Amino acid sequence: MNKLALYCRPGFEKEMAAEITDRAAALGIFGFARVQEHSGYVIFECYQPNDVDRLAREIPFNGLIFARQMLVVSDLLENLDPTDRISPIIRVFEKISAQVDIRLSAELFVETADTNESKELSTFCRKFTVPLRQALKKQAWLADKPNPKSGHFLHCFFVKPNCCYVGYSYTDNHSEHFMGIPRLKFPFDAPSRSTLKLEEAILTFIPRKEEEKRLNDRMVGVDLGACPGGWTYQLVKRGLFVYAVDHGKMAESLHETGRIEHCAEDGFKFQPPKRKKIDWLVCDMVEQPSRITNLIGKWLVNGWCRETIFNLKLPMKKRYQEVVQCLANLAEVLNQKGLTFKIQAKHLYHDREEITVHVVIK
Ligand SMILES: C[S@@+](CC[C@H](N)C(=O)[O-])C[C@H]1O[C@@H](n2cnc3c(N)ncnc32)[C@H](O)[C@@H]1O
Repeated sequence: MNKLALYCRPGFEKEMAAEITDRAAALGIFGFARVQEHSGYVIFECYQPNDVDRLAREIPFNGLIFARQMLVVSDLLENLDPTDRISPIIRVFEKISAQVDIRLSAELFVETADTNESKELSTFCRKFTVPLRQALKKQAWLADKPNPKSGHFLHCFFVKPNCCYVGYSYTDNHSEHFMGIPRLKFPFDAPSRSTLKLEEAILTFIPRKEEEKRLNDRMVGVDLGACPGGWTYQLVKRGLFVYAVDHGKMAESLHETGRIEHCAEDGFKFQPPKRKKIDWLVCDMVEQPSRITNLIGKWLVNGWCRETIFNLKLPMKKRYQEVVQCLANLAEVLNQKGLTFKIQAKHLYHDREEITVHVVIK
C-alpha cells in the first residue's frame, strides 16, 4: 500500500494537497497528491510503498490544518459486484493484516466524502456497515464491542456505489469521529449558529479532562467581534465573565446572566480594563488574517491573556500560503519575546472560508 487518504471540506482539496505534500517532505517522504476539486478528499501517493504507514503514524494528525481524517488506503476497488461486495474488501484487509496487526480493531467506519453527491451513498454505507462488520468480526479483525485499547480503526471509504478504498487509521493519530465530523447539537438558547464554531474548537483543542481547569467561573474572557453572542455564550456557559467587544447588539439572554459587560468599542483598539487579569481572548472579527494575527500577537506579547481561540478568514487565493505565513509570523513574534507556547490550527467542520487557531502560553 502506498496511499494516504485525507478527508477535507469540499473546495479545499488544493490546500489539503499542498499541506500533505509539505508535511511528508519534512519527513523526507515524497509522493504526489491526486486532487479532484470539490470531491472532499485527497489521495497522497507515496513513491515508496512502505512510507505511507510512517506518514499515518508520524505526521501528528492534530497538526494538520485542512484534514478531517487521515488513513492508509488500498488501491481503489472498482466495479464491485453488488451481489458480493464483501469478498474483495475482505481480501484487501487480508493483505493489510499481513503488514499491520489489525486484530480486534476498535471500530469500523463505512464512510463517504462530505459532498452533496455522496448523500445518497451514505444511506447505503449505513446499511452495508452491518454485514461488513459481521464479516470482519468473523476474521477477528474487528472487536466484538468498540475496543478502546486497540491501535486501529478500519475504514471503507466509498467514492461511488461500487467503488471504494479500504484501509485503516491509527487510534492515537486520527479523528475519532465518523467521516471526521463531530456531531454537535445547536443549543436552543444560543444567540447564533456561530456558537458551534467555538464549541467545536474547544472540543478539538482542549482535552476533555482539562476543560474544567482551563475554562471555569474563576476566569475572565474577552470576546472581540462578539455580537450577537454565540461565542460569548460558550464562555458564559462554562462560567467565565466576558467583556463582549462589538459595536453591534448582544443578545438580551446574555445580559440577563449577569456574566457579561458589553463594550461598544473597536476590537483593534480595545485593551483589557486596568488591574483585570484576562485569562481568555476569543476573536471572530471578519478582517484580513494578517491584521488578526498581529492583534493576537500583541495581546499575547503584552501578557494581556494566556490562551486564545480566534478565526482567520481565508483570502480567495493562495489560502494555504496565507495561513502558513500568518502562523509563522505569530510564532516569530512570540519567540522573539522568549515565550513558550503551543499553536494549533484546524479547518473545523463548522468553519467555512476560515480556519480556527488556538494558542496557549505555557
Ligand atoms: C462573524 S460576527 C461574530 C459572531 C459572533 N462570534 C457570534 O458567535 O455571535 C463578526 C462580528 O465582528 C464585529 N466586528 C467587525 N469588526 C470589528 C471591529 N473592528 N471591532 C469590533 N467588532 C468588530 C461585527 O460587528 C460582527 O458583529
